[in-house]
Amino acid sequence: MKINCFSCRNFRNLQNIEISSFDEMNVICGENAQGKTNLLEGIWLFTGIKSFRGAKDSALLKFGCEKAELNILFTAEGIENDAQIEIKEHRSAVFNGNKLKTPSQLAGKFNATVFSPNDLGLVRDGPAVRRRFLDIAIGQLYPNYISALKNYMRAVTQRNQIIKDYRYDGTLSVMLDIFEDEIASNGKKIADIRKKYIDRLGEFLPKVYEGLSSGKEILETEYISSAGEENLRQALLTARKTDMYTGNTSVGPHRDDIEFKINGISARSFGSQGQKRSVALALKLAEAEVINKVNGEYPVFLLDDVMSELDPERQNYILNHIKGIQSFITCCDPSNVERLKSGKIFEMKKGRIM
Ligand SMILES: Nc1ncnc2c1ncn2[C@@H]1O[C@H](COP(=O)(O)OP(=O)(O)OP(=O)(O)O)[C@@H](O)[C@H]1O
Ligand SMILES: [Mg+2]
Repeated sequence: MKINCFSCRNFRNLQNIEISSFDEMNVICGENAQGKTNLLEGIWLFTGIKSFRGAKDSALLKFGCEKAELNILFTAEGIENDAQIEIKEHRSAVFNGNKLKTPSQLAGKFNATVFSPNDLGLVRDGPAVRRRFLDIAIGQLYPNYISALKNYMRAVTQRNQIIKDYRYDGTLSVMLDIFEDEIASNGKKIADIRKKYIDRLGEFLPKVYEGLSSGKEILETEYISSAGEENLRQALLTARKTDMYTGNTSVGPHRDDIEFKINGISARSFGSQGQKRSVALALKLAEAEVINKVNGEYPVFLLDDVMSELDPERQNYILNHIKGIQSFITCCDPSNVERLKSGKIFEMKKGRIM
């Protein structure tokens, strides 16, 4: 995937931007609040997904304007495509001259992976964030996964609805059996696919992390099953005794986690800020490698503010060792860019490229 041309009007603080020549590595440099992240956000919208900052469509319009327009020309599988997005109250999109029913139909046509400061949560925060990462990454590759997940979550909700009453009414065990069978069969499918996906990430993750840390650190990743060594059907049965007091289902993929270990030690509990950032970034890079392996093409990489908190060696790896992936990196400190061996630097000032 390669962007050849990007332009926008009245998008956030970018009144009128047109860039018609990009390199493989593109650094967008400038002081705070000049519009660097806004530019990445504008490119990201062509994935068909809403803003990675969680903003509403109407918040993307330049203050006081009623309409924003974005255009892109990009090459995918050797073919040049164009797309337009118009934002009024909501987004609408055109792809190769055809108006799309919804902008989400751009998904799969233009692919991007974004890394923003929020993604630190992948390592720092609770397990829900890591499960969501897995579910979104897997769902993009295998749409069937999403329906298995929905069936699974429905059965968990049904079990939760009756587990509390089981204390007073032993006959409910028949109903519990039915829901637990459903949870166990879908739950096994989900956990198996997740483990397989982690294995696929594992083909790339240690190497990427080794590169980022200049060979000083080893990253290991493990899927942690809330059922432990037990099979899920048996674990659900065992858990009835405690679940009937909490009203929750305490085992199953909705309680599983991924553990990252750096040199054998938990990154979440003991990792430094820079290490956590490196793990999250390596995860995104490995995700791009898996997409390339399955689809035969890398997504475009949007890296917002990755340089801060990384030492010069790690910065050097990002600037000079991500090969074959068109990347857009924002940074404030011009000294970050001195290490750039090849690529293009864009200076952003007050919403304009200088
Ligand atoms: N809808 C909007 N209309 C006009 N300006 C906006 C709108 N939304 C945000 N802005 C302005 O855009 C400016 C630049 O935002 P952006 O997040 O892109 O900065 P940045 O260059 O990434 O800065 P930093 O280095 O601090 O991350 C902000 O000052 C903000 O006030
Ligand atoms: Mg920014």
